[in-house]
Amino acid sequence: MIGDRRIRVSVNGTAYEVGVEPRTTLVDFLRADLGLTGTHVGCEHGVCGACTVLVDGLAVRSCLMLAVQADGSEITTVEGLEGPEGELHPIQEAFLEEHGLQCGFCTPGFLMATYEMLTDDPKPDEDEIMEVLGGQICRCTGYQGIRRAVDCAIDKLGGTRPADVFGAGGPEGPDAPDAPDADPVGADGAGEGSAR
Ligand code: FES
Ligand code: FES
Repeated sequence: MIGDRRIRVSVNGTAYEVGVEPRTTLVDFLRADLGLTGTHVGCEHGVCGACTVLVDGLAVRSCLMLAVQADGSEITTVEGLEGPEGELHPIQEAFLEEHGLQCGFCTPGFLMATYEMLTDDPKPDEDEIMEVLGGQICRCTGYQGIRRAVDCAIDKLGGTRPADVFGAGGPEGPDAPDAPDADPVGADGAGEGSAR
């Protein structure tokens, strides 16, 4: 839905200037307006974590944030984890190899929460890992595969920041462009990176 409040955001390194309804949640903006349906919607009130994305590097529940509150922010969704040739990110590979998913509904949230954790601390201790995983709900796996996947991701990354895996210019990387300059849009929002 096109609304009357214009916002400028960078999503996975692409700049957008779009109109949104003031009541539109961030997750609905990402899924319905930008077509980024990798972020899932479960409980819609901040409990399950399926909607977790990174906003300026911090994991947030995008069902609890309005799109207008993200104005000026740099957002990373699960689609932003892949490499330039569509390669899986090592965190995704780890979940695949260690059977850290079954139906996959919760998986985008676990991936983004793990991404944030390993950005903050490449070698988190058990308490830190359990606190992060405890904030995400999975109805299928019993968590054992997910727990192994985190260890596997730590090993695969070997201390490399998650944002630096495919080079330092990726989303959240140190050389990532600022949102307003990343992909300039025209005053009417009709530039290359515009969603509308
Ligand atoms: S859908 Fe956002 S926390 Fe469940
Ligand atoms: S894999 Fe189904 S909810 Fe987690």
